[in-house]
Amino acid sequence: MSAAQSVISLQDRTAPDVAARPVYAELAATLIHTRQQLAPRRLFNPGPDAVQIERYFLAAAAAPDHGQILPWRFVIVPADSRAALGEVFAQALKERDASASEKELAEAREKAHRGPFVALAVVRNEADDHPEIPLAERLISLGCAIQNLLLSAHADGFGSGLVSGQAMQTPGLRRLFSLHENELAVCFVAIGTADRGKYVRPRPDPALFVSVLNCENSHA
Ligand SMILES: Cc1cc2nc3c(=O)[nH]c(=O)nc-3n(C[C@H](O)[C@H](O)[C@H](O)COP(=O)(O)O)c2cc1C
Repeated sequence: MSAAQSVISLQDRTAPDVAARPVYAELAATLIHTRQQLAPRRLFNPGPDAVQIERYFLAAAAAPDHGQILPWRFVIVPADSRAALGEVFAQALKERDASASEKELAEAREKAHRGPFVALAVVRNEADDHPEIPLAERLISLGCAIQNLLLSAHADGFGSGLVSGQAMQTPGLRRLFSLHENELAVCFVAIGTADRGKYVRPRPDPALFVSVLNCENSHA
């Protein structure tokens, strides 16, 4: 059975039945709380195989999507395209710093070879057939898709990381990835085998980002 078939068969399911809920909750919490950012330079072979990658993108496809407009896409960067991406990174550095040394340019090129699996995440803005769905909502959908993808890779034991950086909006990168004028490159997603563990960062206390609406204080 392919990954697509096994995931599609899940569509018949609703939430886990009562007896299984604690197990699912524990699994979800473990995955969510132990995922962590790993720099692509720390991600090595083996990377995910074709069946795993298909499963990760099926997970991405389960992201919330207001209007079901699919406002994002991913472009995989295979091994034989890494050198071209490296040139884009080097060119972007030259444009920022005309005095960049050969060593710095070589380092910029080398960054494109890090991580066995790399894909560019791209979002489409409102200048399409769905102007009623603002960019903020499209980016949330993409963020959820990326998180689904990262958690799926994490469940398989892979490390992962997101990288953006100063080359993202350069004409060279837009040309290399054939971005449409209404598209924006958001970040690269890298997946691979981590060289070693890293402590999981302390997460912010919900008290820092949760409040309760108090209508008595409202002046509406
Ligand atoms: C859109 C996006 C772009 C990111 N780009 C970078 C980056 O260029 N370099 C980097 O070190 N981390 C990048 N990150 C990852 C964050 O640094 C990381 O998620 C944060 O430090 C929290 O760590 P954690 O994911 O382990 O909780 C990016 C994250 C997002 C959402």
